[in-house]
Amino acid sequence: MVYQTEASELSPLGSTRENGYNRAMRVTVGVSGGIAAYKAAELVRALQRQALEVHVVMTESACKFVQPLTFAALIGRKVITSLWEEGQGETADDQNGIEHIGEAQWTEALVVAPATANILAKFAHGIADDFLSTMYLATTAPVLVAPAMNVNMWNHPAMQANLELLRQRGVRVIEPGTGSLACGIVGVGRMAEPEAIADAVLNSLGRRHDMAGEVVLVTAGGTREALDPVRYLGNRSSGKMGYALAEAAQSRGAKVILISGPAALHPPSHCEVVRVTTAQEMRDAVLERMTEATLVVKAAAVADYKPVMVSEQKLKRTGPLMLELAPTEDILAEVVKRRRPGQLIIGFAAETENRVENGRAKLLRKGADAIVVNQVSAGVGIEADTNAATFLTPTTSSELHEMPKRELADRILDEILTLRRPRLLVVELDDEDSRKKRQDEVLTETVQPARRQLIVE
Ligand code: CTP
Repeated sequence: MVYQTEASELSPLGSTRENGYNRAMRVTVGVSGGIAAYKAAELVRALQRQALEVHVVMTESACKFVQPLTFAALIGRKVITSLWEEGQGETADDQNGIEHIGEAQWTEALVVAPATANILAKFAHGIADDFLSTMYLATTAPVLVAPAMNVNMWNHPAMQANLELLRQRGVRVIEPGTGSLACGIVGVGRMAEPEAIADAVLNSLGRRHDMAGEVVLVTAGGTREALDPVRYLGNRSSGKMGYALAEAAQSRGAKVILISGPAALHPPSHCEVVRVTTAQEMRDAVLERMTEATLVVKAAAVADYKPVMVSEQKLKRTGPLMLELAPTEDILAEVVKRRRPGQLIIGFAAETENRVENGRAKLLRKGADAIVVNQVSAGVGIEADTNAATFLTPTTSSELHEMPKRELADRILDEILTLRRPRLLVVELDDEDSRKKRQDEVLTETVQPARRQLIVE
């Protein structure tokens, strides 16, 4: 049986980009029949949040616990539930009725969660009588299993011997936890938490861990400036871009401090969240915490103006109302002033016209190391799940085309990390004056003969 649905709002981060330097990595989630099957939906979401492309294979008994439609809605494509559906797949192998081979070759990691005693026994003994067990034999990708079962089943020597066999063959067993089991007993056998399983999958994929040691301060969301006890001046920022950056930095090994204006989003687990409302509160929080940071990313849409007077009582409608507004402090400019050596400062700019020109002017005015200029148009940018951006440094410009914000977050971090590496520039110099001028702009210079200079920034 094949179930398919349109990509839903629930899977905004799913990606199918195939080529290119940041292609989404591919994971197959195998779901076997246990009460924990519903938790596999959370696992799918956790993997998608890491910008992985996810397929789902369900066993017949898994379908008794959870409808395949649940997963189809999450992944926006068919869920594989049987060996015997010919001609409905997407590749030549699928259409020849050997879809398990196609899927086995497509995937870069197979994770089975929950893994029942039955599926583990089949894997251990090479029994291939359904799609999942057949695919297991056919794949050369890393395999992870997250067992979930009754404590006595878990402790049974047959079960433990099967697990030992699988471990010896390189299968990564994500140990179950102890807790109250569906059968009413308290003991070992509870499936590991979806986030922990997702982490294990990322490790097995050798996903970048290139931000270990960095402390990243991210600001996100919009600020609100009160007019009276119930009204405020605000903006449409949802915080999605800042939260995606926080999540991406954390998954790459950084410690993250997220300073967030009001936002209806779950912050990534394990990151420290400081909640603020006004521009002044955001300023105070940023200045207090920036001393710890090695990298400051200012994705927040901070109010530029606030009401001079905040009414203690709710304002009544008594005719035309004039509001006097005063500028807020420019936090980014202050952060740049207080920066310490080695600290990178990245700003954001939402521009509706002359993106690159306005963005570069803002970068130079604010003195940040780089600025991410967002495109703001219908369906892209503010409030949307996707965004396109230009990453500008004083000397370079990179176009990041429209993509889900979680993917864009990784691309932006890739760009930021290149600022940490010494760059070798080859500069054509015409005369002594321009050579001297250029010398002022760079940190060091290795003097080379002739008119071509190698400069390390
Ligand atoms: N920013 C800030 N403090 C403010 C206003 C903006 O730190 N009071 C930061 C934002 O977080 C962003 C960058 O400055 O990283 C640019 O924000 P933007 O609103 O685009 O620029 P402004 O400086 O406000 O300039 P303008 O609105 O005139 O384009």
